[in-house]
Amino acid sequence: MKKDITTIEDIQLLVDTFYTKAKADETIGHFFNEVIELDLEEHLPKIYRFWESILFGKANYRGNPMLKHIDLHQKSAMTVEHFDKWITLWEATTDEYFEGTKATEAKTKAKTMKELMLYKIKQSENPNFIQ
Ligand code: HEM
Repeated sequence: MKKDITTIEDIQLLVDTFYTKAKADETIGHFFNEVIELDLEEHLPKIYRFWESILFGKANYRGNPMLKHIDLHQKSAMTVEHFDKWITLWEATTDEYFEGTKATEAKTKAKTMKELMLYKIKQSENPNFIQ
């Protein structure tokens, strides 16, 4: 039986593995490699803190993922297919290493974020949109 996500090291393994796959992916890789030339040394610790705050209730992530992805969409259109691929990779990576309450939560929360991001992105296309 696999273990659940319980430590910061577990989050690092999950996020690092996911980003390796996402960057190499033919559907979404360009967002990380070309649209934004992501500095992973700076970016990944932010993502660890994001998941620590979601899964372990640590209030150590400061940021606005909605606005970041609206900006990203303005640089290069983000579609439901891109988000579906992101979710497929996230779920596959989670299942590769973990199972349990937190692992399930990681997958559920990502799907909720996906829906919210798609909704906000659509809203942002309205000329009256106010951030
Ligand atoms: C098509 C799907 C997605 C793509 C291609 C994508 C790509 C990216 C990229 C390129 C950045 C860096 C933006 C920048 O620094 O300017 C970013 C930031 C981020 N993404 Fe995504 N993302 C996607 C979906 C998601 C989802 C579903 C979540 C949540 C579960 C998420 C969480 C985050 C967070 C927390 C940040 C950091 C925001 C900050 O700087 O504080 N992303 N994403």
